[in-house]
Amino acid sequence: MKLIMNNTEFNLLRDYIEEEFGLSIKIQDRDMLSKRLGPNLFRLKLGSFKEYYEYLLSHPSSKAELNSLPSVIMNMESYFLREKAQFNVFIDLFDKKRKERARKPDRTIRILSAGCAEGQEPYSISISIRSSGIPNSGCNIQIFGLDIDPFSISSAKDGVYNPYSLRGVDKDIIRKYFTKIDKDHYKLDDNIIKTTNLLQGNILNPSVFKALQNIDFIFCRNVLIYMGMKAKNRIALNLWEALSHSGYLFLGQSESFIKQDVLFRPVHFPDVIVYQKKVPHTA
Ligand SMILES: C[S@@+](CC[C@H](N)C(=O)[O-])C[C@H]1O[C@@H](n2cnc3c(N)ncnc32)[C@H](O)[C@@H]1O
Repeated sequence: MKLIMNNTEFNLLRDYIEEEFGLSIKIQDRDMLSKRLGPNLFRLKLGSFKEYYEYLLSHPSSKAELNSLPSVIMNMESYFLREKAQFNVFIDLFDKKRKERARKPDRTIRILSAGCAEGQEPYSISISIRSSGIPNSGCNIQIFGLDIDPFSISSAKDGVYNPYSLRGVDKDIIRKYFTKIDKDHYKLDDNIIKTTNLLQGNILNPSVFKALQNIDFIFCRNVLIYMGMKAKNRIALNLWEALSHSGYLFLGQSESFIKQDVLFRPVHFPDVIVYQKKVPHTA
């Protein structure tokens, strides 16, 4: 039986999803939403989208269901060393930060991948630092990955990838950091997995960032494209607060924040723009 989502049900679900996750869904996406959520209704033995909405709202075990919604709605595509030019710029900035930090009492450099999917981004950060030849002397490095989807976090902890996730990655890097398990699967080096802190949480929620403070570099790429303006503004503020003084933010190539000129200063490199935290002047 094919379930039809009526306008009232669409409005209820759209508003709820926007409030919880900031995802903005247009009326023309109603059929897409209905098709993607349909299997969830069958799995939960629910008879309509209204019942599904009520389940999300009040069922005691709705939390995991709720947090997996973005992955049902969004395109979850991610791959290793995506937008290579950004990683080259990151390595230059990281090296400068490392030299600066070596003279300070707090010698830890903190890096966050916000919207880390199945770990491809935080692990790419780790791989690019390790393969850069930059000496590790004097500094600790902490890498965090944060994603709302509990299944993505659990898959990131397993560290097993298909060849598509490794497209475009140098053969030398694959040989050095991955073990081929079979024709379709590569396992990432356990040292990289173990030294990355993976957390489940919503970037719209300021309390998630209590454990993520003084971050020197934040990657938040290909997450905002799905967000409405209100959500983008909330996220901009959360990321701004999590960044260290003059910390850097990397967004996806086609993404921006409406409030970025108040909170962030664009820094231009060939083919790459990075946003640096602005700190208000005090009298
Ligand atoms: C398209 S993937 C991008 C992954 C990676 N940053 C990249 O550029 O390859 C978007 C990721 O953002 C996550 N996401 C979406 N909304 C989120 C939210 N409110 N809080 C945390 N993560 C979120 C999704 O679960 C998904 O894993």
